[in-house]
Amino acid sequence: MASAPRKMLVTSALPYANGSIHLGHLVEYIQTDIWVRFQKMRGHECHYVCADDTHGTPVMLRAEQEGIPPEELIARMQREHLRDFTAFGVAFDQYHSTNSEENRLLSQEIYRRLKAGGLIEIRSIEQLYDPAREMFLPDRYIKGECPRCHAKDQYGDACEQCGATYDPTELIDPVSAISGATPVRRQSEHHFFRLGACREFLEDWLRNGRRRPGAPPAGSPLQSEAANKIEEWFKAGLRDWDISRDAPYFGFEIPDAPGKFLYVWLDAPIGYMASFQALCRRTGLDFDEFWRPDSEAGLYHFIGKDILYFHALFWPATLHHARYRTPDRIFVHGFLTVNGQKMSKSRGTFITAQAFQEHIEPEYLRYYLAAKLNDRIEDIDLNFDDFLARVNSDLVGKFINIASRTAGFISTRFDGRLAAGGASEDTALLDALQSAAPTIERCYEERRYGEALRQIMELADLANAYVNEQQPWARIKDPDALARVQETCTTALNAFRLLALYLKPVLPRIAAAVEDFLNLPPMQWSDAGELMTGGTIKPYAHMAKRVEKGQVEALLAQGQGAAAPAPAGEKKRAESSPPADAPGNAATITAEEFARVDLRVALIVDAKEVPGADKLLELTLELGDGERRTVFAGIKSKYAPGDLKGRHTVMVANLAPRKMRFGVSEGMVLAAGPGGSELWLIQPDQGAQAGMRVK
Ligand code: MSP
Ligand code: ZN
Repeated sequence: MASAPRKMLVTSALPYANGSIHLGHLVEYIQTDIWVRFQKMRGHECHYVCADDTHGTPVMLRAEQEGIPPEELIARMQREHLRDFTAFGVAFDQYHSTNSEENRLLSQEIYRRLKAGGLIEIRSIEQLYDPAREMFLPDRYIKGECPRCHAKDQYGDACEQCGATYDPTELIDPVSAISGATPVRRQSEHHFFRLGACREFLEDWLRNGRRRPGAPPAGSPLQSEAANKIEEWFKAGLRDWDISRDAPYFGFEIPDAPGKFLYVWLDAPIGYMASFQALCRRTGLDFDEFWRPDSEAGLYHFIGKDILYFHALFWPATLHHARYRTPDRIFVHGFLTVNGQKMSKSRGTFITAQAFQEHIEPEYLRYYLAAKLNDRIEDIDLNFDDFLARVNSDLVGKFINIASRTAGFISTRFDGRLAAGGASEDTALLDALQSAAPTIERCYEERRYGEALRQIMELADLANAYVNEQQPWARIKDPDALARVQETCTTALNAFRLLALYLKPVLPRIAAAVEDFLNLPPMQWSDAGELMTGGTIKPYAHMAKRVEKGQVEALLAQGQGAAAPAPAGEKKRAESSPPADAPGNAATITAEEFARVDLRVALIVDAKEVPGADKLLELTLELGDGERRTVFAGIKSKYAPGDLKGRHTVMVANLAPRKMRFGVSEGMVLAAGPGGSELWLIQPDQGAQAGMRVK
């Protein structure tokens, strides 16, 4: 059962710096953390590194809208992420940032090696450019009409109505989601990684695994479902990968290519190396020992199914051609659904790590997710009824219960002292528990955590059945049976200790409380071969409480409350606005969503009645620098044209122009009140000049 100590480096995907950690993310970090804790318990030298993924357009724009440098934004997000991970017991050996000096040097060096190896090709391509904002627009920042089904307001890469995928230049009437301007086509030079040239290497790597000089190939690095997916991609043909972006871009400059930056997905996985390098500098580990082509250390990446392409094609090809070692295994997991559906803000099931831990003990989420996890890529569901049942009946009802039923007798009747041995029925129970260690060990190693927990809970059933038979609470009344009660309770606590040891990768905090209560040094996997004989324990203090349904209700209500009162029509817009991956929520809008509304002070230079319209006035507004707009406003029942001329008001200046029966309206003016004659035009304080931004 004991295996030779291995050196291993383990990673989880780097979370984007522009969003909060949510329960979906936690599937991955908890899955990885359990595996790492397990490896460490077995005595392997295992390093777990991660980092925030900081580069790219969304971070750049968000920082701009918050009016802070991107470095300040990413520093704040990193603190927040680390706080959440710590709360959920996810214990990285190093948590770094892709915007680090280590990563810059590694990324630029890798780029240079790829270039020297003939794997970079420079080609001119045409893209949509925002002339107002003076930048090329990523697909998600362009909206327009779907070229296939003609649905309006679709993103630049795919239509949410008909599912078509297309090039953003194919959109009909495209607009920039950043400025509202009409994008223009513009050429620019891009650097491409010639993935097509890596086909032979990739095919071999995917089928046979990593080749280490002087060793047989290691076997496929992927689960079979993932390998099948890759075969499909091979059949479809490997397209060269555009790894450059034009300024302005928050990222690393491409060496010798002024104004060109490395695309975030090139430097993100290199962030694994950079984080490990920072760990090496801090602790004296040898970076090369883990990254040179013939490294004997293991490299294991945990990722979600959405980023398989990057990790199974681009990443190994990059490493190989930059003369680094390739990964041994890529462990892919599915997506989390909540109560059977995709996490949704309007159902209150888009739950952040922070919200969860305000209501429910984080360790219970670890337990539940572990119970659902296996080695396949299928999605996993968090069903809150099932969650309550498993935590309360298994974790508290079966496991914790063993100690709470027996420890009191040891404390009150035997002065905290355990018995030195036991009877044969005791040996039978403890044998059963101890001999399960190798099977449970294999389950953890192979990431079949659900199976491991099922076995552990069966052992807990055995231990409870034993306590029920022995009835210490009845026998304690018989003075002749005292010694036997001490033995029985000692046996039960030995069973409890073994269960805590097996659960320790999943429940680190509870396991630490058990170690404290039983006066044990930190439990290692090999300690399953030992039992407690004699010795003393501390008085029992409850280690885990039941979860009440009310806690779950409060959690879901909190999510929903934040999303509830959005007026119809408004809500859809807010949800479908870019950036798509920024979790805000539907009713509240984020600061950056608000910042996209261009509110300006406008001078009403003219106001006219509109023939044939009984509610509208036609306003001519001046926005400074001679810019004029025509706006049709439904304010005639309150104002006569003469009341308005020369007044200042506030207008939405970047509203898409709207064709009306009487002409095109180029914005909106702001007024308060229900309408009709109950209406008051908003007027800025004296001194405000036409064209000034309203913030
Ligand atoms: N920044 C990239 C990863 C770069 S790795 C070099 C990224 N970030 S992410 O924040 O969107 O996701 C981080 C990890 O969380 C990914 O592995 C992703 O698959 C996983 N998950 C995000 N949402 C998830 C669910 N709803 N369910 C399960 N995992 C999910 O991708
Ligand atoms: Zn469509």
